[in-house]
Amino acid sequence: MCGIVGYIGDRSATEVIMEGLRRLEYRGYDSAGMALVPRSGGSIQVIKRQGEIDKGLAPGIREESPDPSAAGIGHTRWATHGRPNDINAHPHTDCDGGLAVVHNGIIENYFELGRELRNEGHVFRSDVDTEVIPHLVERYRKTGLDLLEATMKASTYLRGAYALAVVESDDGSGNEALVGVRKESPLIVGIGEGEYFLASDIAALLPYTRDVIILENGDFAFLTREGYRLYDQGGEEVHREVERVDWDADAAERGGHPHFMIKEILEQPEAWVAALQGRVGSDRAQLPELKNAPSVVDGISQVHLVGCGTSYHAAVAARPQFERLLGIPARAEIASEFRYGDPLLGPDTLVVFVSQSGETADTLACLDLAKSAGCPTIGITNVVGSSLARGADDVVFTRAGPEISVASTKTYTTQLLILDLIACHLGSVLGFDDDARARVDALLERAPDLPGMGWELLDNQEVILRVAEYLAGWEDVFFIGRGLDFAAAMEGQLKLKEISYIHAEAYPAGELKHGSIALIEQGIPVIAISTQDHLREKMASNVEAARARGGWICLVTDRPDDSTAQIADEVIVVPRTAEILTPVLVGLALQLLAYHTAVLRDCPVDKPRNLAKSVTVE
Ligand code: M6R
Repeated sequence: MCGIVGYIGDRSATEVIMEGLRRLEYRGYDSAGMALVPRSGGSIQVIKRQGEIDKGLAPGIREESPDPSAAGIGHTRWATHGRPNDINAHPHTDCDGGLAVVHNGIIENYFELGRELRNEGHVFRSDVDTEVIPHLVERYRKTGLDLLEATMKASTYLRGAYALAVVESDDGSGNEALVGVRKESPLIVGIGEGEYFLASDIAALLPYTRDVIILENGDFAFLTREGYRLYDQGGEEVHREVERVDWDADAAERGGHPHFMIKEILEQPEAWVAALQGRVGSDRAQLPELKNAPSVVDGISQVHLVGCGTSYHAAVAARPQFERLLGIPARAEIASEFRYGDPLLGPDTLVVFVSQSGETADTLACLDLAKSAGCPTIGITNVVGSSLARGADDVVFTRAGPEISVASTKTYTTQLLILDLIACHLGSVLGFDDDARARVDALLERAPDLPGMGWELLDNQEVILRVAEYLAGWEDVFFIGRGLDFAAAMEGQLKLKEISYIHAEAYPAGELKHGSIALIEQGIPVIAISTQDHLREKMASNVEAARARGGWICLVTDRPDDSTAQIADEVIVVPRTAEILTPVLVGLALQLLAYHTAVLRDCPVDKPRNLAKSVTVE
């Protein structure tokens, strides 16, 4: 969603906030701004501009050259209410500009609050829900409450999910203060030496500190130059543990690559090493993080795998493994549907949540639903301290390192690995039949070779580049596959669509003939994925049918001698491994295809239009 940064200390607040916002820009990039408290006292200076930071806010700061400041807040926006423009950009201020607020999330009752405040004489300037907040705080400041008390009081009127940072002007006496609020949307406090930070994401703080406090839901943080105090939603002062983050600052930099996305694609073999480290035994998967699920798994009669977007696609690919290795029905569910679908849930239903960020609103709503129905829960996430990591009974981290590009890449393939390992681990508690045992043995035996195969694929991108050149000239592309290959096709089409803006559809190959084949005409690109021996002949017929209608066929296979390769226009060969592991390699190949196509079409790869990395609203 949006990114928040706050700073108080001896450095230049402008510089710290600017650096933090650049690191959070992947969360939203339609406008950005900051509010600064001048060291010499006087009014808060607000500078905000539409557009990406380098095109809007950065030149804005140079033009307006704000006074030196030791405290301030900043924001990079992904619009939910009100068009992206200078006025709707955050921060928003109260009537006389004495205090400023940045906000991530949605205020659901903004309309009623706005009407009430306007009737009281407050003057609004923008179209955004956020603007009610500074006016509400102003209302209580005027009754004599201090900034913290007024923010606490104002928060009791706000409905919705939000994280806030609030700052007000100072008389130059060095008593600046920042207030942070966490209600559903993430907010962390960074602790440096004589300096303190607020941020919606650890990435913003990495150049300055690795000591962080992840605020609990409902918490308030009060930061001054001298220190910080934390309060729970009832206003009681509370203690929260300081956690040390082990990500290094370089991991969140582009490191000479033109885009984060290609850097993150190339990092995958190493990410797989990290994801598998210590988790692959000679005859079993070892996940000591699963402290609760193994003890209840023999009472489980069904499994739901829940996620959104790419994380949902990982769930789709993992579903058959859960079904076969646990011997009970498993379903992959889209979180935004599941939460309102009135699912049958109870203590005999294991629910596995998949989320890179661990903050996706729909996924977290399903977690609440499952927990209130008494279901055992497992979270798979990349972000330590995220809401999912803290809310699920068991959590397994993907260990992919920070992923900045909006398009998920290394987190998808590591999710696939972790899901398979969880299915192996839980299945071993119940005992395997011969077929399941053979699948698990193949996975355990071949998994350590996977990173090498990833490097091999990354070293041989000529065909992928040729296919990308072909795709770049089209506006519609089909992805077809069966079983695990259909799951891979779903992710392949999403990746292409979101970063190259080419319309792409994934179909189960056998379903094409029931309608969609009507759209195949001369030259239309069809990416056909065929990596499962028992389905190879069936795929061959489906590819023949598409080719007969004029389709331009790119076959993705693990068998260069696949007979279908003879009729394909291009063949992308992925290294051959255990069937369960193949979606990881196909995923990598299709990410490269989407990336190169988007680059050829000159698209803003890391920041596709209308998207945000983490979707913390419904
Ligand atoms: O953080 P999450 O994995 O929960 O995010 C869910 C989706 O928004 C996400 O997977 C999205 O589809 C991808 N970034 C697209 O590449």
